[in-house]
Amino acid sequence: MGAPESKKCVVLGVTGGIAVYKACVLLRVLQKQGIDVYVIMTKNACRFVAPLTFETLSGHPVAVDTFERPATWEVEHIALAKRADLFLIAPATANILAKMACGIADDMLSTTVLATRAPVMVAPAMNTGMWDNPATQENLAVLTRRGVHVVSPATGHLACGDQGAGKLEDVSVIAARAMEVLSASRKDLSGLRIMVTAGPSREALDPVRYITNRSSGKMGYAIARAAARRGADVTLLTGPVALEAPQGVRVLRFTTTQELYELALAHAGNQDILIQAAAPADYRAQEIAQQKIKKQRGEDFVLRLIENPDVAAALGKDKRAGQVFVGFAAETNDVLEHAQEKLRKKNLDMIVANDVTREGAGFDVDTNIVTFVTQDGIESLPLMSKDEVAERIVSRAVALRAYIVLSAVAYARRTFFAFFGPIRGKKS
Ligand code: CTP
Repeated sequence: MGAPESKKCVVLGVTGGIAVYKACVLLRVLQKQGIDVYVIMTKNACRFVAPLTFETLSGHPVAVDTFERPATWEVEHIALAKRADLFLIAPATANILAKMACGIADDMLSTTVLATRAPVMVAPAMNTGMWDNPATQENLAVLTRRGVHVVSPATGHLACGDQGAGKLEDVSVIAARAMEVLSASRKDLSGLRIMVTAGPSREALDPVRYITNRSSGKMGYAIARAAARRGADVTLLTGPVALEAPQGVRVLRFTTTQELYELALAHAGNQDILIQAAAPADYRAQEIAQQKIKKQRGEDFVLRLIENPDVAAALGKDKRAGQVFVGFAAETNDVLEHAQEKLRKKNLDMIVANDVTREGAGFDVDTNIVTFVTQDGIESLPLMSKDEVAERIVSRAVALRAYIVLSAVAYARRTFFAFFGPIRGKKS
């Protein structure tokens, strides 16, 4: 998606504030860098500068907040969301930041930015009091956590007469940051479908208790983010975790292993790559008590557990030619032996093994130390951030897939020639 490789596309969202006129200059600066700019304005922005100005400068129709033409806006906002290599909102009012933080989609701009899978950047501009307000600051913190790039406003004399932070940052600075993000965003995985599982499952015992494990979901979320950043079509199946949903990723939630099993089976068929970082519980209670289980008054309490389905093993049985399935093995001992056994038993192409007893590896930390185990060998990586590990896992899975697909083609060629012999040129 996005503009052709030669010409990157920025969708410029313009929201209402005195700094709107600076967005015209920003548009020009971006164009001078060879960027194709499409503009979406809010109704309030149109009070400061007419859409015609942006239309003339950009050479494209300006999408304005209007639902008056239902047949076209539906198509238009999705088309713009897909076209963007970067979605830049400048100036961004406190209002649009609040809407984005909450996922509100009530006009053309908020709807389109919610739909985009492109990196998003905001350059806020507002009165100092509004900027300092905890509501605005908390909204920005939420957006930053989700990966939105923020070009903080400059401090100075504001149009409203106040002195302080809130002035739109210099357009050359905003344009430079935009170019940085654009050059960092390689979309080499566009068209590839990748499904990632993440987080623990919860198996209820009674209405107030459940069995779970220490999986935080961080590794799986980092993988989903890394794949989405490179343009893949990502589906994330997530257990209950305290993490923000990554931008541009389709999120489906499960609570129990059985729910994960059903979701995974329903969606695995049309995926190219499946990366299973989830930690689904192997067992669940044989019976879930309908009422809170009471203390046994001195007696031991015996809990009877029954086995859950092994999701990875079940998916492995139906793996299609060309699909690549990656699993994890979080171990405390004999890491490689266990990993190799899981690779074979679950019909996986790679296991990401880690010894969770090592410092910097495992649960609820931002780093990991992993070893890639494939049929052809092992590769140990040093201590890295989970984001870096995620990049490496995605790259390795993609390389495995390329190898498998090429081998299949070579096999098909060999089989063809074995049956029909070499193709000879026609004699005239
Ligand atoms: N897995 C799964 N379904 C389960 C348990 C695990 O799909 N019921 C997947 C995990 O997502 C992971 C891989 O299998 O990718 C290995 O998980 P792990 O818990 O290490 O292995 P188990 O098969 O559960 O074996 P054990 O608990 O005996 O180590």
